[in-house]
Order: sequence, then structure tokens, then C-alpha cells
Amino acid sequence: MHLPELRPFHAHYVSALPEATSDLLFVFVDELCINNKTLQNFYLENLDTSLNFTISSLVSLGDFEGKWLQSSVSLSLNPQIAKRIVLIGTGKKDDFIPARSRQLGIKLAELMLALKAVNVSCLCSSFLLQSKEQLIQLSLGASLGVYKYPNSNARAEEVSSVKLPLNIYFVHEKFIDNAFMKKTSILERSLNLCRLLQDGPPNIVNPKYVAHHISQEAFELGLQVNVFGATQLREMGFGAMLAVGGGSAQEPQLVVVEYKPENYTKTLVFVGKGLTMDTGGYSIKTPSTNQEGMKYDMSGAAVCLSSVMAIAKLKLPIRVFAVGALCENMVDAHSYRVGDVLTSYSGKTIEVIDTDAEGRIVLSDALHFAAKDLKADYIVEYSTLTGAMIIALGHVGAGVFAFDKKLEETVISASEQTGERAFAFPVWDEVAQEMKGTISDLVNIGTTRRAAGSMAAAAFLKEFVDDVPYVHIDIAGVADGNSSIGYVKKGGSGYGVQLSVEIARQLSQS
Ligand code: BES
Ligand code: ZN
Ligand code: ZN
Repeated sequence: MHLPELRPFHAHYVSALPEATSDLLFVFVDELCINNKTLQNFYLENLDTSLNFTISSLVSLGDFEGKWLQSSVSLSLNPQIAKRIVLIGTGKKDDFIPARSRQLGIKLAELMLALKAVNVSCLCSSFLLQSKEQLIQLSLGASLGVYKYPNSNARAEEVSSVKLPLNIYFVHEKFIDNAFMKKTSILERSLNLCRLLQDGPPNIVNPKYVAHHISQEAFELGLQVNVFGATQLREMGFGAMLAVGGGSAQEPQLVVVEYKPENYTKTLVFVGKGLTMDTGGYSIKTPSTNQEGMKYDMSGAAVCLSSVMAIAKLKLPIRVFAVGALCENMVDAHSYRVGDVLTSYSGKTIEVIDTDAEGRIVLSDALHFAAKDLKADYIVEYSTLTGAMIIALGHVGAGVFAFDKKLEETVISASEQTGERAFAFPVWDEVAQEMKGTISDLVNIGTTRRAAGSMAAAAFLKEFVDDVPYVHIDIAGVADGNSSIGYVKKGGSGYGVQLSVEIARQLSQS
């Protein structure tokens, strides 16, 4: 089955307003541009004159002051330029971070869809949008905002979908060069690939579906892909991953994509948790533990496998592998039990205390594979690993658990760059000690069960990477969202795609 078609959407980057009339003209205005109900900005005053004073008329009413995400819609007094004008506030400089540009883009898309506009121009006039990075985030935000996973009922889709392609013209005098356009569209494509895989229902997006689509995408880019099914995984000794996937009618799949540039010195391996559904197994989840949201438990794999495509297209000078460990945690006669002792690929044994702490079990094999077989210089791993992460950081940021100072600094600085919030935690020895077993090397949850749950999980994972510099990123809170407070509106967020590209870029230069 093919990945669904998205709403047709084209972003254009131009240096002047298009000649054709726009359905909507967005004008970004920061607080400094307005004082005492009057415009204080030369650029805006000029624009206002050509719009027959639409902007100043709106501003003189006093209800629009350029405050963060404030908006004001009006008929345009110059219908040749645009039918309607929307002022959007960008607020103050102090609180302006890259994630805010993305939120502005989402807002723009929401208004565009609500007003049924198909040709939209967007004047990036606010001084807060005067850098390439801010403009990229704005454009990506608009793309995230118009994104919608199609209704599975084709008829419903036909009625609701916008017939014409959506066109957004971003008007900016300075930054419309080819490199800018290329980077934006590359990121957009990987983000959408990630989100389509995330949002697909678990009866369709199963391990083979992911493997199939990622292979297709990789072949198109000439990238090497290896997919290991159950038989090969058994031969290789992936006892942990096979146990978790054992209760499912769907075979587990280990998907490995390789990007190998002509010149490189280091090998970076991204590893992702790929539970296409996590029911909890015999330690079953109840509806109150968010079982319906567990199709997103493959987000780590989706992020890694989508990001490598962008890294390859950007031709970064670093060798990159993306490893997706895909399986389904189900209840069945073949499921693994509470109390089972498993032998992982590393040879270390794991006693299963809770079948719902399955992510770390699956990752134990994949991480060891990255360290030993792929000979990683760095391992960056993403997983929707613990509910405790949501308690700690909500749906706003990811938890970073690094076992290497340089990697930690890289992840944090990359996150500041892309506006995907991340916070570094320690991994204390007292907590790590709890993961030691008595009849096995390790237990999958410690004696205090959920106490310091995210840190305990990180300590468990570290056991499988030998001495390779390693960072674990827990994306349980940010992989999917319900509002635009964090990364995106409802659904898969693609959190981590931009981060991975930036991490690879920084590591390729060090
Ligand atoms: N996939 C879940 C973690 C999760 C919870 C992700 C909520 C996103 C939203 C993971 O497999 C899990 O069930 N973890 C348990 C671990 C516990 C049994 C130690 C948890 O967090 O409750
Ligand atoms: Zn679980
Ligand atoms: Zn899980």
C-alpha cells in the first residue's frame, strides 16, 4: 500500500509581491512597529500606502498591537493586491526563539484553511524574521500547518479537501537563494515522510509497511538498505527484539539505511524505537494509560529513517546509518511473559519484570548492533520510552541522557538552533544499580518501579553500547501533539527530524 497523498501545497520564495491578486495577504508585525495606535515602521508605512491605508486603519482601532500571535483580519482597501489582509503579531524580541517562527507558520496555515484561501502572500516584514533560520522555520511551520493525514473514507476526503493547490508566497528581500530553498524543501519532505508514517493507523503501518516505504525512498536516493526479518534476526541472535515481537502476527523488521559520502571521517548511527503498536503485552495498558496513542510508539524509528534521507540529500560529509527496530507488542500465546529471562544480541541476559517496558528490550539488540556491527563513532537514539518523561517535561521538550559530554553539547546546541526543545538529565549510579538483576544480568524495571523512570531506562540502555559515545533522547512527550503549544497541531510532530540533521551537520564539522 502506498503512503497517502498529502494536500497539494506549494511554498514559493520571492523577493516582491506576486502580480496576481492574493486571496489573503499576511503581514507580520512586531510590537516595536506600533506605538500609540500608529505605524512606526518605514517599510510598513510604504506598504500601507499601496494598500490604501488598510493597515493603519486597522491599527488605529487600537485592538491590534503586534502582540504574540495576535491577529486581525480585514477587507483590503486595494483589491488589486489582495482581497483580505491579515495582520499577525510577532511580539517582542526577548521571547523570540526559532520554535516561535514555526508556530507563526502554523497559525498562518490555520487561518489560510479557515478562510478557504488558496493563494496567499506572506510579507516577512517583522524584524524578528530577519534571519534565514527564522524564515526556514516559518516556512516549515506553514507546511506542518497545512498537513493533514487524509481521511480513510475517500468520499469524505473529496468533500472536505481543497481542490486547488495551496500556494504560499513568502516575500522576503534578502534570503531567497537556492541553498535556502533547497534546504527548506528537503526538511519539509523528511518531516512529512516521518509524520505520514507516524499518523498511519497501526493495522496499516506495521513493521513491513515501514520497511517497504523506507526502502522505496532510499532506493530513489541510491542509498543502501538492509532489512532483516524474523529468520535472520533469529540467526543473528536478536533474542530480545524477537521476544517482544513474538506475540504479533506481524514479523519484526530491523531496517538499516546507509548514507556513505565520498569523503568522511566519522560514522554516526541513529537508532530508533519502532513499536508500531504497544498494547503493553501481558502487563497490558488500560485505556487510561493511553493505549490509543501507542501507534506513535514507532516515532523514534520514523524520525531516524526519515532524517537520513534529508542528510543524504544535503550531502553532509559524515557517514550515517539509520536503524529502525520495528515490531509490535501484542497479547497472544506466543507473547513473552513477565518473568521470562531473555538473551540479548550482546549476550547479556534480561529478566522481564514488566512487558510494557518493551522499548528498552528491543533497543538493547539494536544498540548493540550499532556499536558492534556498524562500528559507530557516535550513537544517537530516539525513543518514546517512558511516561515519566511526560511528567517531567510535558509535551514541550525531550529528555536528553548523554554518556558523552561532546554529544550532549551537540544535541543541546542543535536543539537551540532548530527550536526543538531538549533538556539534559544526569544518569546517576544509584539509579543504574537498580537495573542489575539477580538471576540475570539486568532487569527491565528496577525495584522502585517507576521512580526516576526515565533515568533508569537510560541506564539500562547504556549497557548495550560498549564504549561508543552515546546519547538517548526520550521523545515520549513530543512525538505527537494535541495543540500547537509545542511543536505541531494534533498528530505526529516529526520532532527530531530537524534535530538529527543539525546534529549530523555539527558532527560532520568536528
Ligand atoms: N511506550 C511507552 C511509553 C510512553 C508512554 C510513550 C506514554 C508515550 C506516552 C513505554 O513502552 C512504556 O509503556 N513505558 C512504561 C515503563 C514502565 C512499565 C516502567 C511507562 O512509562 O509507564
Ligand atoms: Zn510499553
Ligand atoms: Zn512502548
